[in-house]
Amino acid sequence: MHQKSSDLRKHLIIRIYIDFLRFYFPFFCIHWLMDYDLLLLGSSTWGAGDLQDDWYSFVDQLKNKDLTGKRVALFGCGDSASYPDTFCDALSVLYDDLAGTGCAFVGAYVPEDYDVTDSAVCRDGKFIGLAIDDVNESDKTEDRIDTWIANF
Ligand SMILES: Cc1cc2nc3c(=O)[nH]c(=O)nc-3n(C[C@H](O)[C@H](O)[C@H](O)COP(=O)(O)O)c2cc1C
Repeated sequence: MHQKSSDLRKHLIIRIYIDFLRFYFPFFCIHWLMDYDLLLLGSSTWGAGDLQDDWYSFVDQLKNKDLTGKRVALFGCGDSASYPDTFCDALSVLYDDLAGTGCAFVGAYVPEDYDVTDSAVCRDGKFIGLAIDDVNESDKTEDRIDTWIANF
């Protein structure tokens, strides 16, 4: 009985610690991030065009900040063969969430060496950020990074 209540106490302490970190870690990251003029923000795409889970609490706080004067470059990886309709759409989620912050997005490029360009990462004929497909086209990754970086 005593052992059980001790285990429960340990479990509760760990739980509270995790909840504390989950809430305050994004807060501190955003605080540090404000020192920089150029932000490179990346997420792989999960679900059906979704952000990585660990992004949500962070972007919820970041989208309420004033990012005027900051440049934001987006990057991420996906799988264009299995998910052509939502290829690298996590970038478009970040783009839409941060559109109201006053930041300037940089690094858009014409996707010349991609077979799949129908997802939301492609706007007005350009990819809004670096879309990597290491699952099917890892041989193109280095050139794609160079093209992206040359844009900003
Ligand atoms: C359940 C599941 C859903 C996925 N959904 C998408 C998607 O909607 N769009 C996409 O481009 N890639 C999608 N992917 C592919 C991943 O983004 C890809 O495998 C990526 O390289 C994972 O990178 P990471 O392991 O570094 O997070 C999905 C993968 C899984 C397993």
